[in-house]
Amino acid sequence: MRQAGRSLPEYRKIRQGVGMLESCRRPDLVTEITLQPVRRHNVDAAIFFSDIVVPVAAAGIDLDIVAGTGPVVAEPVRTEVDLARLRAIEPGDVAFITEAVELLVAELGTTPLIGFAGAPFTLASYLIEGGPSRTYLKTKAMMYGAPDLWNALLARLAEITLTFLKVQVDAGVSAVQLFDSWAGALSEADYRRFVMPHSASVLRGLVDAGVPRIHFGVGTAVLLEAMGEAGADVVGVDWRTPLDVATKRIGPDRSVQGNLDPAILFAGWDTVEREARRVLQQGGSAPGHVFNLGHGVMPETDPDVLTRLTALVHEVSSR
Ligand code: CP3
Repeated sequence: MRQAGRSLPEYRKIRQGVGMLESCRRPDLVTEITLQPVRRHNVDAAIFFSDIVVPVAAAGIDLDIVAGTGPVVAEPVRTEVDLARLRAIEPGDVAFITEAVELLVAELGTTPLIGFAGAPFTLASYLIEGGPSRTYLKTKAMMYGAPDLWNALLARLAEITLTFLKVQVDAGVSAVQLFDSWAGALSEADYRRFVMPHSASVLRGLVDAGVPRIHFGVGTAVLLEAMGEAGADVVGVDWRTPLDVATKRIGPDRSVQGNLDPAILFAGWDTVEREARRVLQQGGSAPGHVFNLGHGVMPETDPDVLTRLTALVHEVSSR
C-alpha cells in the first residue's frame, strides 16, 4: 500500500533533498525506491513508486506534493476556463514512467509489479479543493450544482487516467490498481450517478489489457457492490468491513484485497498476529484474497513488524 517505503530509513535517506514529484520523474530513483520494501519484507508483489497526481501534473496542472500534507494545486480547477488547463496526455508526456517500469520489470524477475492511478473522483477532489479536504465542500458543490462541468472534468480525468494506466501496462506491469481513496465521502446513489460511469470507463478501457484490475477506496462499506460492478476483478476493502461481509456484498465473481487496520501494527505482536489470522480466515470466503493493509502504511510503523507480518501471512496461507 501507499508509503510502505516511508517507514524505511533507506527510503528517507534516498529522498533527502529530492522533492516528491522530482523523485517520481527519475527512473533511477523510482526503481530503487520501489525495490526497497520488496528486498526488506519479501512481499509477493511490488507497488510502483509514483503518485496519483503525476499524470495530472503531466497534463499541465501546476501542483506540488507537500510533505506531511499531500498534493497542493496552485490554481484550483473550478470553471470551464480552468478545465481548459487540463489537457489530454500522450504517452510521450510520461516517458519517464515507461522507462521506470521497464527497468523495474527487468530487476524484479518473477515478482509482479503493480501499476496504479488515481480514480477520477479522488483526482477531481484535489483539483477542485486545491489540496486535501475533510468535507469535500467545493467538490460536492460542483457535483450537485454544475453537473455538466463536473461530468466534463471527470471525463477528462478518466481519459488521462486510462492513458496513464495503458502506458504502465504497455511497459510491463502485471496488475493495475485504481485508487478512489476518497469516494467514501459519497452515498451509494450519488456514487452511481456522478462517479461510477467515469471510473467504469477507465476500467472498461483495460478489459483487453490482460492484467487484473484492483479498485480501491476507503470508507466504502456502502459502495463495495458498485465498485465491483464498475469493472473490477479485485475490490479493495478497508478495515471497517470484515472480508466475509464484504464478499457477500461484492458477490462471488470478484476477489477482495485488504484489510488489516494499519493502526493494529502499533498494538504489539500478539494483537498483530491475532488480527492478521482473522483477516486471512475471513478472506477465505472470497474466491480470491490479496492480503494487505486496509489503507497505507503509517510512516511511524516499525519496519520489522511489517517483515514479520509478511512471514506470518506466507506461513498461514501456504498451508
Ligand atoms: O508505497 C508507495 O510509496 C507506493 C507509491 C504511492 C505513493 N502515493 C507515493 C507517495 C502510491 C500508490 C500513492 C497513491 C496515492 N497518493 C493515493 C491513493 C492511495 C491511498 O493511499 O489512498 C493518494 C490519495 C495520494 C495522494 C497523496 N500523496 C497523499 C495523501 C500523500 C501523503 C501526504 C503525507 O505526507 O501525509 C502523498 C505523498 C506521497 N505519495 C508520499 C509517498 C511515498 C509521501 C512523500 C514523502 O513525504 O516522503
